[in-house]
Formats: sequence, structure tokens, C-alpha cells
Amino acid sequence: IILRVSTTGGNASSPLLYGLMFEDINNSGDGGIHGQLLKNNGFQGTSPGLTAYAAVGGTTLAQDTSTPLTTAITSSLKVSVASGTTGFVGFSNSGYGGVPVNADTYANYFWMKGTYSGTVILQLIGSTSGIVYATQNITVASSSSAFTYYETTYTSTQSPDGDNVWQLLFDASQVVGSSLWFDLVQLFPVTYHERYNGIRKDVGDFLEAIGGSFLRFPGGNNLEGAYPANRWQWNATIGPVENRPGRQGDWSYANTDALGLMEYLQWCEDMSLTPILAIWSGLTLGGGIISGTALTPYVDDALNELEFLLGSTSTTYGALRASYGRTDPYAITHLEIGNEDNLSSGCSTYASRFTAFYNAIHAAYPSITIIASTTSSSCLPSPLPTGVWTDIHHYESPSAFISLFNEFDNYPRTTGYGIFVGEYANTANDAGATTYWSTVQGAVSEAVYMIGLERNSDLVKMASYAPLLEHYDLAEWSPDLVGLDSRPGSLTGSVSYYNQKMFSNARGSTILPVISTVDFGPLYWVASSTTTGTYYVKIANYGTTAESVTVEIPAATGLNATASLEILTGPALSSNYPLDVTVLPTTSTVSGSASGGWTFSLAGYGVAVLTLSPS
Ligand code: AHR
Repeated sequence: IILRVSTTGGNASSPLLYGLMFEDINNSGDGGIHGQLLKNNGFQGTSPGLTAYAAVGGTTLAQDTSTPLTTAITSSLKVSVASGTTGFVGFSNSGYGGVPVNADTYANYFWMKGTYSGTVILQLIGSTSGIVYATQNITVASSSSAFTYYETTYTSTQSPDGDNVWQLLFDASQVVGSSLWFDLVQLFPVTYHERYNGIRKDVGDFLEAIGGSFLRFPGGNNLEGAYPANRWQWNATIGPVENRPGRQGDWSYANTDALGLMEYLQWCEDMSLTPILAIWSGLTLGGGIISGTALTPYVDDALNELEFLLGSTSTTYGALRASYGRTDPYAITHLEIGNEDNLSSGCSTYASRFTAFYNAIHAAYPSITIIASTTSSSCLPSPLPTGVWTDIHHYESPSAFISLFNEFDNYPRTTGYGIFVGEYANTANDAGATTYWSTVQGAVSEAVYMIGLERNSDLVKMASYAPLLEHYDLAEWSPDLVGLDSRPGSLTGSVSYYNQKMFSNARGSTILPVISTVDFGPLYWVASSTTTGTYYVKIANYGTTAESVTVEIPAATGLNATASLEILTGPALSSNYPLDVTVLPTTSTVSGSASGGWTFSLAGYGVAVLTLSPS
């Protein structure tokens, strides 16, 4: 086929078009992107017990609620030493399915109480092999009257696997017949941008490579809570981690909230992502809904959160922010009210709940773009206030994504209105069976859908694949864009990850008209240009056979004769697995000219991005 790209006409493309959606699901936060590697370190959630801990050297361990660290961290680890015990003893923590141990520098923090003076040994050790990859002796002077905080750093050698634990040892002779208490043990590798309490560098780098423009957080369902008091609460996720109580998250595990509001915003700033801040709308997953006048305290709470983020340091919450080391306000330009308020019996009250939040927030912060959590008009106020965007989610089969290609072609264009595709992914095959791993066919169907979004990106302002990340051993939702576990090299991009990366890194500011020799299907395309004269042409082949494609831009001048061509393809049902990545984009060059075109072959179930740069 021939695609003849016009250099004039077309529509503007949203500068935010592609981005990331993050919620703590699949242990994507604790045990995933957050840098802290030890599990159950604050005994948070509904039933922490001694999860992840083990005695070392014959000690006895207990979760002790009578010796809390703070009013937020209400239990500590009691380590008792029986009479006659000798040598160095203590406890270990096996992290989230093993502690990832790499040739890296680790920061280690812990709190300790009980009478003890002298050496504490911190180690990273193979739990089966017993090989010690790191060991660090520190001198402590612990007292029985209060917890004392300790921190240290040390380097480690590389473990060949993920079967590792962290352990803390002390001299038993000082403690025989008695106990010591420990709390909030924390272990961090060097973090992304070397932030204190930051996100993992390897995961941060991997996500940065996608080239996204925004981060939607903190959910997803994990915003909502099983009941109102269990919702994600911004003010429980700020300040020193010993003051963060954590919560039982909506995906059946404890959230420490060490990855809290300020850490999300640090992530945004370090990755140059526009924050899309979700606030609670009164809807819970458990079916409890707060509406009417009962919603007023929650509206006030949202205003307090915005004052914390945006207020001057002379305001109550702006001063609180400053007290946590952040004087400058954050850049909050977009805010979403709720998540999927068309579901969980939320529809009938959403219009009034949305309006309560909207009126208060818009009056105080008129420049913030406010997003409703559904496009369903029956759940929305009518008319929708000018400037409000709406969020739609699609978890679909490949065929469904193909039929959604033109979803927005004839959508009404109203000034100021925009669509956010806040979550989408191919999750099942056409027969309805769950697709646990993103396949080539599924990713190509997503590409077809994304071409439809990009063609309409005057209206479609943002789109984000979901979920973003899973810990392979702890996942309750698949497929996910990226996965990891404790093994070296386990950080894996799904086929969809590479598709996202190709699309996001090849964005123009204007979507250009294209005249073609055939209609859409099985090939789909979109062309764009940048303000600096680069052209991108994206093509997805959802057919089973290769197609010859020629791209011409007759009116373009000064283009390099050599184009760059990136192609992602493979057997339809192939996937990338941890330590077994077979589907990767390939890059080649194609020679041609603006009038004669650039010709290449695109395999069946293939996605191509042709980049034409000014010479
Ligand atoms: O992405 C997984 C879940 O799908 C999200 O939590 C929710 O918003 C949607 O239903």
C-alpha cells in the first residue's frame, strides 16, 4: 500500500498523550517500584504476624503490640534470647519473595530498643547457600527506655539468584534471658536519582525509557478502600515513615505507604511526568458510598490536600509541606475525582458527588483541569462543566480493540472537553480466555487502538496502559506492562511495554492527513510531524501476512534520505517472560525520498514506526 502524507491540515495532538498509570496492585509499590526491600517492616495491615521474619541462632520472635515504635507503627519485633545461648544471633527478613542482592551500595536503617552496647552485624546472605554477599558491623548503644534509630551504608557483591535474606545479628551473651526490640528495618539499594526513601533505580530507568508524559496515581481501585475509613488517605502517607500507619490495601495485602504522596511527586519530577492526582470521591469498593452533606468533610480534606501541595508556606498545610523539606509548591495541573464511579453502585450518586468536589476545587484552583472518572453520561452532571475531561477504561480482547479503532472518530468536539483513556490493556483472547502474558497479537491490537487514539488526539488528551507493574510471585492481576521478582535480570518488559515505548517516543505535535491506496484493516496508520520538522508514521498490521508499505511525503523538503524504521513483531501468541525475552523491537534504516517514498515490508502482527528526520 502507499501512504501519502500531507504536510498541511490535520489536527493538533495532545502533548500529554502517552503516560503511566500507577496503583499499588500486584505488590507494584511495596515489593515493586519502591526501593525498600524488606517486607512487613512496620507490621502494617490487618494480619501482619511474623510474615517474612525468621529467627537466627535460636532466638524466639514475636510481634509485640506492647512496645510500639510510634502511634502509627503500633508493633515491634521482640527478639528473645534463651539462657545458655552463645555467639551472634538475631533475625532475618526474606523480603518480597527473596531480597534482590546485587553489586550495589545498600542503605540500611532500623530502630532498636532494649539494653545492648556493642556490635550489631547486618548481612545480605544466600538463604539456602549461606553465602554472605555483604556484611557490615556497626556499634550501637541501645537503651531500654526508648527506641534508638541507626543507619549505615555498605556495598554488596552480586548474588546469582533471588534466594536471599537480610539479617541482623547481635551478641547473645549480652541478652541471655532477656529481649531486644526492633522496628522499621529498611534496606534500600541506590535509588532512582539517589532519593532518600526513593524508588528503585532499575525500575525507574526502565519506566523512564517509555518516554511518557504523565503519571496517574494512586489508583485504580486502591484509591477507593473497602470502606470509607480504609480509603487511600493522603495525610497518612506523608512525613517520616515512622508516622505512617499504612493500610490494608484493596488488593489483599498491606500497603506501608512509604511510597506516599511526596514520593509520587518526586517520581513525577525526576521523570518529567505531569502528575494526574486522583482524589477519593466517596465511593468504596465494598459498596459503601458517602454522598450528600456527609461528603463535606471529604471535600474539605481534598482542599487540605491541595493546600498541602500548592499552598504558600504561610498556610497551615503549606507550612506542613515545608516542615517536611519541601518549600516550593508542586505543579498540580490535573486532578481526577474518583475511580470508575460508574461501577460499584456509584453511578446514581456520582453527578452530585462530582459536583460537590468540582465546585469547591474549581473555585479555589480554577486553572486545574478536573477529570471525571467515567465517560458514562448517565453518571455525570448534565451539562458537564466546561473544561472537564472524562476517563474511560478498556480491558478488551484483540478483536474488541480492532473494533474500537474508530471509537472517537465521530465523538462530539466541545471546546475544553477531553477524553482520558486512564486504563487499557488486552486481557483476554477472542475466545474469552485470560491472557496472563501480553502477546504479540494483543500488543498489535493495542497498537491499532492507540493509532485510533492518536488520530483523535485533539480530543483524546491522555492514555495509559494498566496495570503498570507486577511482582511475579505476588500478582493478582495479569497481564501487566512490566514485571519483576527478586532474581537478577528479572525486570522484564512485556510485548506491550515495547509497543508503548515505540509509540510514546515517536510523537508529533500535529496529526497529519494521509491519503492511502486501501482502507483501514488489516493495516492501520497515523502520521504526525514535530515543530522541528521530523515526521513519524506509525503502522500496525493486524493481518497474518506481510504487507509492503510505501510512505510518501511529496510536499516535504529537506528530509534525510535515510529513514529509521523500528519494527515490533513475532509469532502471534508469543510473549516475553522473565529471563526469557524474545520479542523486542528491531531498528533498521530505509533509503528513499519524499516524492518516491520509503518502502519496507511489515510482517503480519507487526507494528512499525518510521522516523523521517530533517537533514
Ligand atoms: O487496573 C486494574 C483495575 O482495573 C483498577 O484498579 C481499576 O481501576 C480497574 O477496574
